[in-house]
Amino acid sequence: MDDLLSLKQAFIEESASVSDLSGLQGLRVKYTGKKGLLTARLKALSAVSPEQRPAYGKVLNEIKEYIEGFLKDREAQLKEGEKDRRLLAERIDITIPGRHTPFGRRHPINIILAEITDIFVSMGFGIADGPEVELDHYNFESLNIPKDHPARDMQDTYYVSDEVVLRTHTSPVQVRVMEQRKPPLRIIAPGKVYRCDADVSHTPMFHQVEGLMVDTAVTFSDLKGILELFVHSFFGKGTPVRFRPSYFPFTEPSAEVDIGCIFCGGKGCRVCKTTGWLEVLGCGMVNPRVFEMAGYDPGAYTGFAFGMGVERMTMLRYSINDIRLFYEDDLRFLGQF
Ligand code: FA5
Ligand code: MG
Repeated sequence: MDDLLSLKQAFIEESASVSDLSGLQGLRVKYTGKKGLLTARLKALSAVSPEQRPAYGKVLNEIKEYIEGFLKDREAQLKEGEKDRRLLAERIDITIPGRHTPFGRRHPINIILAEITDIFVSMGFGIADGPEVELDHYNFESLNIPKDHPARDMQDTYYVSDEVVLRTHTSPVQVRVMEQRKPPLRIIAPGKVYRCDADVSHTPMFHQVEGLMVDTAVTFSDLKGILELFVHSFFGKGTPVRFRPSYFPFTEPSAEVDIGCIFCGGKGCRVCKTTGWLEVLGCGMVNPRVFEMAGYDPGAYTGFAFGMGVERMTMLRYSINDIRLFYEDDLRFLGQF
């Protein structure tokens, strides 16, 4: 009997310090496991003398019920506590603002390139393409710019080898298209071009959109009409436009198109160098020499061509005063478009 009472006493003392489920499990094994202290007493019951067995068995049974009851209650208690702790730790505060996924933006040059393309496509122009690494023949010779011709100095060329250059303009696409297709032709050729040139209005790589229209009776009036329509769609209906005589070896006559300065409204300012006008593109009637070299009969066809700088158009559209901003990858700048 003393043994039983001290067993219960020991259990009470040990169980008081159990504070988690694994501690409780240790206690359960120690007392009620296969080789447990209580289990051993139960097994030994048959060895108790028959006279003492009822009283002894009764106390043993009470202790058994006490221990099992305690283990069951304490387990439920600890499980509840553990659940509360877990819920607290895993709590999600749905009022915290979500994490932003930064979205990319279209580059301003690509926005304007698409706009220019749309305007000409709506006038029936198709899109043509040519290589950026180009033969000297297409970039110069076939455009009536022979070697040693002073017009080569108009463009500072990156040479890959004696006969291969990075194209300095999109005009070689004119010749490539004419070699492959018969008139009537109405195409634009947007793309990258390269010149050894760098300041606030020049970068070594920039974009041009070339235009070419060839048919049996294309006139300078067609050129003026289409380019005026373009300028008015792009810059707005009221924008003043003028055609100023100029020179390109591959067009004759040649002109440059100016628009009324959008910064000063034509009054004259730093940007337009006080002239009130800003140059936006070069153009002219296709030189008969170019037709000849492309295999077209200059007696049968006439045509016009033009070429514009896309960075220039973008700067005018958004009032940007430094071309280098386009290529510095500054997201504070690029995120504004
Ligand atoms: C030409 O490149 C001619 N091929 C255009 C042409 C085509 C004329 C068809 C007649 C017929 P130009 O060198 O002026 O012309 O260049 C055209 C435009 O490109 C310029 O008005 C300017 O806006 C832009 N440009 C020229 N150099 C640079 C540069 N380094 N960086 C940015 N834009 C430039
Ligand atoms: Mg020019």
